[in-house]
Amino acid sequence: MKFKKVTAIYFSPTSGSLRNAMAVAEGTGLPMGSIDMTALKNAPLGEISFGSDEIVVLGAPCYGGRIPEIASSRFSLLAGNDTPCIVTVTYGNRHYDDALVELCDLAQSHGFIPIAAAALIAKHTYGHIAESRPDEIDLETTRLFGQKAVCGAEKAIIDVTPSVPGNRPYKDGGKGGIFRPSTTDACVKCSKCVSECPTGAISDDCRTIDNAKCLACFRCISVCPMKAKVMDSEEYRAFAEGFTQKLSVPRKNLYIL
Ligand SMILES: Cc1cc2nc3c(=O)[nH]c(=O)nc-3n(C[C@H](O)[C@H](O)[C@H](O)COP(=O)(O)O)c2cc1C
Repeated sequence: MKFKKVTAIYFSPTSGSLRNAMAVAEGTGLPMGSIDMTALKNAPLGEISFGSDEIVVLGAPCYGGRIPEIASSRFSLLAGNDTPCIVTVTYGNRHYDDALVELCDLAQSHGFIPIAAAALIAKHTYGHIAESRPDEIDLETTRLFGQKAVCGAEKAIIDVTPSVPGNRPYKDGGKGGIFRPSTTDACVKCSKCVSECPTGAISDDCRTIDNAKCLACFRCISVCPMKAKVMDSEEYRAFAEGFTQKLSVPRKNLYIL
């Protein structure tokens, strides 16, 4: 069957999952759309459905070896109708653990058929790990993977879920981290961080972070045009240094077709 379009759907606080999912979608060569479910303002309000004549690419980061709970809840409003789906998990060079199988399972339970899956490296939120990933070679290989996935599905749709690594029941994870960014005097109260926060954790004046809501995803740090959101506590710096050393050996992307 010839597919009429591809839609990349992602939750991606610091853009690694976005870049990887978009590379897969580009590789398919199909007319492309995208749905960004990262910011609270972009959380879907109702079901979004897809047909069997189109492809969906799902992209989410790995948080503690799982899909962030907030991403799972947003993706739960997707409804496939035997829609072929390419599942991607992006992780920060430690491991993806059960996140990839979890996202395949989620896709399947919402009417999608996972035809291909990938665990892809991107810069880690914390420290200085895999900072140049995905690099041009990663992105080119990931595009090629998208192309092959669609070529395969045009001939026969095969569910790859059984060959995806991971455990069931899944390990505990999917929660946010413990670090909380602070705001410097460079803040001009432009509200960019407020409107881009995945959980609505930042007060209207940009200054206060609700600790209970914050995921420590560092999206506010990455979107602030004034570089006024920072994470520079002693505790964080010590952690980041050790973590960077521990994860200094580059891992390879995993592609399953
Ligand atoms: C709370 C939290 C937990 C994380 N857990 C993991 C992990 O278990 N394994 C890993 O390799 N990377 C982990 N990371 C790093 C992210 O998976 C990585 O930075 C990814 O590129 C983020 O995706 P994004 O750029 O789409 O937001 C974690 C990051 C955060 C914020």
